[in-house]
This record gives sequence, structure tokens and C-alpha cells, in this order.
Amino acid sequence: MTSTRPAATTHAGPAASPEAVPPEAVGPLMRGIAVLRAISDAGGRAALSDLVRTTGLARSTADRIAATLARMGYLRLDSHSAALTPRLMELGNAYLGALRFPALLAPLAEQLAEELDESVSLAVPDADGIRFVHQTTRRRAMSLTFRIGDLLPAERTAPGPLFAADWDEREWARWRERRAADPEDRGFPAVPPRGPGPGGPGFEERTARAAERGWGLDDQLIEPGLIALAVPVRDADGRTVCAVSAVSHTSRHSADSLRRSLLPRVREAVAGMERTLRTAVPAAPAAPAGLADWTGASKQQLGAEFLESLARGLTVVTAFGEGRPELTLTAVAEATGLARATARRALITLEHLGLVVAEDRTFRLTPRVLALGCPPLSRTTLSEIATPHLTALVKKVHDSASLAVLTGDDIQYTARVATGRIMSVNITLGTRFPAYAASMGRVLLAALPPRERAARLARAELRALTPRTVTDRAELAVLLERAGRDGYALVDEELEEGLRSLAVPVRDRAGRAVAAVNVAMHSSRRSVERCLTDVLPELRATAGSIESDLHVAGRFSRIPAA
Ligand code: PHB
Repeated sequence: MTSTRPAATTHAGPAASPEAVPPEAVGPLMRGIAVLRAISDAGGRAALSDLVRTTGLARSTADRIAATLARMGYLRLDSHSAALTPRLMELGNAYLGALRFPALLAPLAEQLAEELDESVSLAVPDADGIRFVHQTTRRRAMSLTFRIGDLLPAERTAPGPLFAADWDEREWARWRERRAADPEDRGFPAVPPRGPGPGGPGFEERTARAAERGWGLDDQLIEPGLIALAVPVRDADGRTVCAVSAVSHTSRHSADSLRRSLLPRVREAVAGMERTLRTAVPAAPAAPAGLADWTGASKQQLGAEFLESLARGLTVVTAFGEGRPELTLTAVAEATGLARATARRALITLEHLGLVVAEDRTFRLTPRVLALGCPPLSRTTLSEIATPHLTALVKKVHDSASLAVLTGDDIQYTARVATGRIMSVNITLGTRFPAYAASMGRVLLAALPPRERAARLARAELRALTPRTVTDRAELAVLLERAGRDGYALVDEELEEGLRSLAVPVRDRAGRAVAAVNVAMHSSRRSVERCLTDVLPELRATAGSIESDLHVAGRFSRIPAA
């Protein structure tokens, strides 16, 4: 039961004083979570043999956990290793959705970053650490960048002293204990080890000063060069809900100039954020994500390899979300379809692991949920999301498949899975083709607002790349209209003789076509009809799988194309 105890403090969180495991705790759930944390700390992918070493689990146990998590769509397995999937982000999304303010404040944080031309982040207190719930990606060279879900020791950050101002004696004691037990900050894999260094004023003193002034400073406490300034954001009840940090580098600012030039604007932005929080209408409860009814079917298919109690326990996390921040046991059981006794044991286990807190008969998620995959997954690109789905498609249709985005009047390849078949077109990542003559270009042009589409068509230089290239603007306009209506484009030997390709769009959560996927083949491979009857449904299913991953991963993170 307790064999999940990881070898180092890394996966348990910083110096979690090992409390006794409650008798009701669900062992497979504890072990499954240890595996997810270990893979997350390893950067999103780990060899199964390394997992056995870092978690201390038996190989057969690790295999069953991995099989169960793969069945849930949370891991992708190959012969020797396991990788987290974008779908896993639904756990972190449950926490961020329940919290609500990341979605409310992110646009204001982005705006501030734009204005300052510096990185801006939102962080929440997490025990004696701070954890990021939003990050803008404006950081220039020469410093570490943190990700959503990364945990930092409070005393080495700008928001830390602002949060510590609310600590009681017990929390200070826990902090001292952790500092003594982990003198190099090994429990915080996101930061470089703490050196002996002079250390500057003590954390208690910095905390008192930060509380007085209403801002916190990190003058190279994490690494040389990295400086940050933080201001707390309070809700309508005056509680500090998060801190906004503006982050810079000593090549652009000293700690002093950072405060002088940025503090007024950060404060202004925080005032706007506090107004937003005060006036936000309560979120309508979102439908809970996952029901537990599939777990029985999986059990039948996988038999002993499927750990039902792990699947059920993780489903409990997804009972929470937007408009569902605090739930009673009854509400959790209803949302998941689990028996009350099962939901109760799962909640007890999650509480023991610090992923849930209970108060007045209601439960809510803690920021620690973000440790289950968010840091590596929040940095996923659309091409990384697409590649495994393209691979699966290529296995089915035996022709090459690609992903491309629109850049100017061209499409640019950002992911590609080729077959062994020799094609004369040598397409590599980064290859560009004129959009008007390529199937992916046609669906992407077709998805533009009508006026923009017309403007692009009017200015594009239309050259005949083969005798069949359509270069007549009126005819192209009709083809684009049709591609928009049909939801696909088939281009036959217009880009290159002998090359036929079929494409569909990939849409983000807002319905914007952010990319296209295609299958390209030699025109002798199958007739145009067979293309439509055999390949199009597979291609659409692939686009659908990419989209569902993108919608989960992109809920609170910006997913770049490549
Ligand atoms: C960051 O957002 O990257 C950040 C925030 C506070 C710090 C350091 C870095 O103290």
C-alpha cells in the first residue's frame, strides 16, 4: 500500500511531512499519481525502466499503471517509454477552470506584457511555494522560463514574500523544516539548486517589508540575471488570490529601475484585474467532463491490466471545473457516476496526496493538481500534438500526411509523416508552397473571412506551376467557396504533375482554422472517387483527434504552431 513512496522528495512535493496513509486510501490511485508526477518531472516522457527506479514501484505494477493510463488516453506507450498526452491536461484544466481567475485575468496579463515588453506571470500560493497558473512567453534570451504548473520555493521569488505575509506560525515552522531538510531545493525541479551564496536579507524580513510596501522583489534569487517584481491581486473580500509578476533581466533593468519604471504600470494593471474580479458574474456550472461508465468496459477488455480504482479516482478530479469549484461528496458522486463509497475513498486519497482540500463538507482542488503534467504539456506545439495522429493515419492509408499553417500567401509545413514511397516532391518541415495551388492552402484560404479571402486572392501572384494549375481568379474564388462549403479541398496535379492531395482544416476551440492536414499521394494510387470515399473519412477523423487534443491543451495555454 505504501510502496508508492518515491525515493526523493521531488515527486512528493517539497518536504511533505510523511503523514500516515489513511486506511481508506486507494493504493492504485496513489501509485498512478506518483507515475504521472514522475513523468511530468522528467519532462513529459520517461523510459519505463526509469519510472521503476524513480517511483520505487515493481515493474509489473508500473506496467499495469501505464496500461491503465494509456487506456484512459493520458499516456502514450511505445515499447520502452511512456509519454504524457495533451488529454491529461483535463486534470489541470479542472483546477484552473474551478479557479476561474486565470481565464478572467489572462487577457489583462497579456496586455500588460505587451505594454511593458517583458514577461508577465500569475502565481498562486502552494504550501510554502508558489505555483504558476499563467505565463506569457515574452522572455528574451538569457534566463530560465517557467511554465504553467511549475513550483518554486517561495523565498526565492517575488510573489513569495507577498504570500508568506499571510502565514501563521505553523506555516513558518513548516517552511524552516523544509529549508533544513532540502538545503539545495532539490524538491523544486524547475529551479537551479540553491547555492550557499550571501542570501541577502532573510525571508522573514523580506516578507515584512513586502507586506508593508505592497510589492515583492526577486533580485536574482533564482539565477544570476533574472529579476522580478510582484504585486498581489485581491478579490472582492480582500483575500490575496494571486500575484502578478513582471520579469526582466539585469541586461535591461537593475532591481531599482525595475521598480521605478514598472511598478506604477503593474499596479494599474492589478487595479484593472481587481475590478474584473469584482464585477465578474458567477460562472455557469460547466458539465463535468468524464463519466465513469466506460471504466467497466475497459476492465472487460484489458482484464487485470486495467486498474479500475485508478481510473475512477482520476475521474473524480474532472468532477470539478468552471462553476464547480467546491463540491460535496454527493455532488462528486453524481458528477462522476461513481458510488458514494468509491467517490469518498478517492477523495480521501486525493486529500492525503495534497490534491484536494476538504472544508465544511465540501472539497476543492489544490494547485498541486497542476503537477500532474501541466508544466511539460503547457509547452506543447500544434505539430507535436498532430504528429502521433498523423502517424496513425499514415499507417491506415499508406500515404504521407502533413500539417501546415498559412503564412502570408504561402502554406508552411510544420509536421509531416512520410511513407517509404518515393515521391518526387521533397517536402521537409518549413517547406512553403503557394497557398492557392495546394490543398491545405485552399482549405485555409477558404476559412478566412470573405473579405480577407477576396483581398488575398486579388493580390496573389497566380502562376501556373503545372498545366493544370488554376490561375483564373474567378475560378479560384469558386473553388475556395466550394472548399469552405464541403470542408475539404482536393487538388489534382496543380502543384506538381502526378501529385494529388486532399486536405481538411484543423480548428481551435473558437472555431478558427489554425492549420490544415492533408494526405498526398501519386495520382495513380487511387481514383478521385476512392480518395473521397476511402481517405476523406480517415482524414476527417484525424483532424477531429488533433482538434480534441488541441482544445484540451489550448484551454489555458497558447499553443504555437511549431
Ligand atoms: C516568472 O514568471 O518567470 C517569475 C516570476 C517571479 C519570479 C521569477 C520568475 O520571482
